[in-house]
Amino acid sequence: MAKTKLLISRKLYPEFEGDSLIIALPSGVKTTPKELKSLDDKIDNILSQVLKSEEFGGKASETFIINLFGKYGLRKIILVGLGDTKELNAEQIRKSTAAGIRVAEKTGGEVGVLYSQLPDSLTFEILIKVGVEGALLSLYRFDKYKSPNNDNHKTISSIAFIVPEEVNVIALNRILKTAETIAYMVWFGREITNLPGNEFSPSSFALQARKLAKKPKVKIDVLEKDRLKKLGMNAILAVGQGSEHSPMMIVMEYGGGKKGGKPVVLVGKGVTFDSGGISIKPPSNMDEMKQDMAGGAAVLSAFKAAVELKIPINLVGIIPTVENMPSGGSYRPGDIIKTHSGITVEVLNTDAEGRLILADGLSYAKKFKPEAIFDIATLTGAAKIALGTVGCAILSYDDELIEKLQKASEDTGEKVWRLPLWKEFDKQIESSVADIKNTGGRAGGTITAAKFLGKFAEGYPWAHIDIANVDYAESDGELWRKGATGFGIRLLISLIRNWNS
Ligand code: BES
Ligand code: MN
Ligand code: ZN
Repeated sequence: MAKTKLLISRKLYPEFEGDSLIIALPSGVKTTPKELKSLDDKIDNILSQVLKSEEFGGKASETFIINLFGKYGLRKIILVGLGDTKELNAEQIRKSTAAGIRVAEKTGGEVGVLYSQLPDSLTFEILIKVGVEGALLSLYRFDKYKSPNNDNHKTISSIAFIVPEEVNVIALNRILKTAETIAYMVWFGREITNLPGNEFSPSSFALQARKLAKKPKVKIDVLEKDRLKKLGMNAILAVGQGSEHSPMMIVMEYGGGKKGGKPVVLVGKGVTFDSGGISIKPPSNMDEMKQDMAGGAAVLSAFKAAVELKIPINLVGIIPTVENMPSGGSYRPGDIIKTHSGITVEVLNTDAEGRLILADGLSYAKKFKPEAIFDIATLTGAAKIALGTVGCAILSYDDELIEKLQKASEDTGEKVWRLPLWKEFDKQIESSVADIKNTGGRAGGTITAAKFLGKFAEGYPWAHIDIANVDYAESDGELWRKGATGFGIRLLISLIRNWNS
């Protein structure tokens, strides 16, 4: 879909001439703020009248359209509420900006955004960062397969963030560019997550990674069947053996940090379609399992951001990617697999495939002597039972890594919640015939899955992010539309950008 030009502008209407001007205000503003007086004069004090009438109350994400029908050279003024100033935070700015943009999108064309009457703590640096994120995140749509005559939405060609004369535009432009790059990485991650199984297979994933190979300080290696066999990666091989598409382990290295410094390793689940395999899933909503590579997409997107933004970090991205299918060649319940780490696993459910491919990914990660390992995966339906669809689950034995994730979460607005890894859960994954089994029963399903993964990351600080409850939206939200949300991409980018601070 078409990208939107973003800019910072010092021009307030009447000089701003576009299609829609979005004015974001907290609740309880009943008179026209002084920077809007000249605009108000020009439009016969309509703004003052609206504010006085209290038809627009400024509640969080409330919108009110003043349609000028182009009479004053501007088609629409869109008022959008920021809610109570005392509760106002960056995430609400994202959401309110998004709400305004969604209204402006109905007209399309050139849009201006102006924030007014905000507390000083919300600096223009913050406003531009989160304003750009809110605008671009809300605009993404998955329309690749829509014929043009079947898709009649309008396009916003530009968004100008309007700031006062005295503000340093050069610094703000840098912030705008960075936020824009990050938001487009979320678009990228959403796009490949939305691609269906027939359009996106493990080799498509590898192709996307290989596109980065020519960038400075980047090395891309894709381990295919022969090498997976030689390395003893029997877990990923087992999960992939039922599909016509061969499994692959994508390994990406970026040396943006100190030469020889230990890297941070990100491991992402890349199941391009999860039918459940021989333990086949019920048909309802099985289509949603095209998104079972959202963790891998998050790792690739964050890796791309590190390269593009030249983040000063040594980073390794590992994406085990497979298609989980039932066939005469599939792995079966009862199979015993010797994983790359040497740990043997009894397969009791072929639908618990994510932890198997991640097991090989996590144990392979140790070869890079990581400073820390994070994995991100659409791992368990139980995550939704535990947390609904509001925030994801994070699990770790390491309080410092949890703290880093919580900090990143505060930065991006993507909520995280820690679940425990109590040792009492270990017995749920004990096997009578192998070292462990790949299911832990219904009780604490997100925890036992993480317990399983932990066995393969032993000896290194490790944290697990389960996004199965948040990666895919069943209906439109403020910052996304139905489909892939890209949850976790900004979280990972924030994590690595602030790694050493
Ligand atoms: N990919 C699924 C988890 C999932 C479910 C993600 C719903 C998004 C929405 C995963 O591979 C899976 O099937 N997990 C099983 C594990 C069980 C068999 C132990 C689950 O959660 O039911
Ligand atoms: Mn599964
Ligand atoms: Zn899965």
